[in-house]
Amino acid sequence: MFSNNFFSIFAGTLLALQLVSSNPAVLSKGKEVQDDKEWCDDVLGCLEITDDWYCPTRPINVLPDTRADINTRFYLHTREAPNIGIEYTVSADDLTSLENSPFDPTKPTKFICHGFIDKGTTRWLTEVAENLLKHGDYNVIRIDWGDGSKPMYDQATANTRVVGLEIKHFVNTLIDTYGFDPANAHCIGHSLGSHTCGYGGEQIPGFGRITGLDPAGPYFTGTPYFVHLDDTDAVFVDNYHTDADSILVLGYGTGEPMGNVDIYPNSGHDQPGCDPVDIAVELITEDMINGGRDIFACSHIRSIKYFNESLFDNTCKWVAHLCYDYETFEAGNCYSCGDDNSLCTDHERIDHGLIKRSLFIDLIDVDHILRVELLWKYNDEVLHPGTHCNGLLCNRSLYVQSVLVSPISHYPESERQSFESTACSTDGSYTEIEDGSTVSFLVSTACTAVSTENTVTKK
Ligand SMILES: *[C@@H]1O[C@H](CO)[C@@H](O)[C@H](O)[C@H]1NC(C)=O
Ligand SMILES: *[C@@H]1O[C@H](CO)[C@@H](O)[C@H](O)[C@H]1NC(C)=O
Repeated sequence: MFSNNFFSIFAGTLLALQLVSSNPAVLSKGKEVQDDKEWCDDVLGCLEITDDWYCPTRPINVLPDTRADINTRFYLHTREAPNIGIEYTVSADDLTSLENSPFDPTKPTKFICHGFIDKGTTRWLTEVAENLLKHGDYNVIRIDWGDGSKPMYDQATANTRVVGLEIKHFVNTLIDTYGFDPANAHCIGHSLGSHTCGYGGEQIPGFGRITGLDPAGPYFTGTPYFVHLDDTDAVFVDNYHTDADSILVLGYGTGEPMGNVDIYPNSGHDQPGCDPVDIAVELITEDMINGGRDIFACSHIRSIKYFNESLFDNTCKWVAHLCYDYETFEAGNCYSCGDDNSLCTDHERIDHGLIKRSLFIDLIDVDHILRVELLWKYNDEVLHPGTHCNGLLCNRSLYVQSVLVSPISHYPESERQSFESTACSTDGSYTEIEDGSTVSFLVSTACTAVSTENTVTKK
């Protein structure tokens, strides 16, 4: 499981930053709430912006718009009324709207919450609502806060807290009126919507589950737990990070783990098919609105598509490797998948001077590998004199006979063997890769024959 270690390293860095760059005016105010830092509504109650809400990654905190301006609406779908156009608008302020609807308080209830510059009537919400109903017999409620999600980002970010209060108000009404069990509630939020679910769930004891689809990064990464979605906001919080680059390189999501389980498909960023070159072609086939969204937030939106896809029985399995943190994963220590999957457990770093069999895994579909490029860098570490290697005493090259490619998309791993391919140099002998250089190996049948004969054994 992705642990808090990642977070603590990050928090440490931020603390250091805060010491050198904090605004004295903000620090000297103490914990008191200024008049202009409180927002109140007759029905929903009050929200405060204490100084704890300010940090280097969230320098601006504005008050939310009014409840009327944000105009949050809840659209209900059930199996009786699964399609858009016949959904029911339900409200905690008007109990007849619930009574006249097919809402069934005994059924699990799924909330879908959109993010920035989006609204509850966008196609993805209605599609996911329909597909949830194919998946199970639920009450599905699309939350529409489109009047509050418009630019500027800092305003929309502030407005999510009011939408959180609306969720609280709505679910508490269900609890009080119908004896609804909050453990049956599941809020699925995309981007800013993930944190919105968090602001709602944290106020309802026993709130069942929150699924964060690429939780928004800007204004949330590196903030205290109560500012962003976290594992105290529901009984179970699962997040899918698909656009975890820093906002400086145009990532809308966050790499910070914020749940009980955080999943990083394709390492959490730059999803396959999101290269601008690929998207330009897609533009021609998709309608313009979707095409535009796909260009500017392709990886960010991919989390929705993965979630949607997971609602269907699919022959393709979703394989993920449990890992302590991303660094450990990148170091190759987390590819082990368990007992009888010997190929997978064989994956190790290559130590210079030892002959080893290694398994290289590319997280992108590797069904049809034509060529494998290996880059070798000799690593001498100052603290380990034995690793120094200069002149005639030793050489810094790596000698590779063959490269076995095993597709990660075939699971269980025992089934991978029939999809494996071997890449090697044309004559099947050892190829020298000098320090800092890259060598290509071609996949060929001749090569496979050679490598089965002289299988390199471990050590
Ligand atoms: C959801 O999945 C279905 C079936 O694969 C597909 O037709 C639909 O376009 C998907 N919708 C979204 C929003 O990804
Ligand atoms: C490195 O060692 C190998 C094996 O002994 C040898 O064939 C090769 O020529 C050496 N390379 C260099 C650059 O010294």
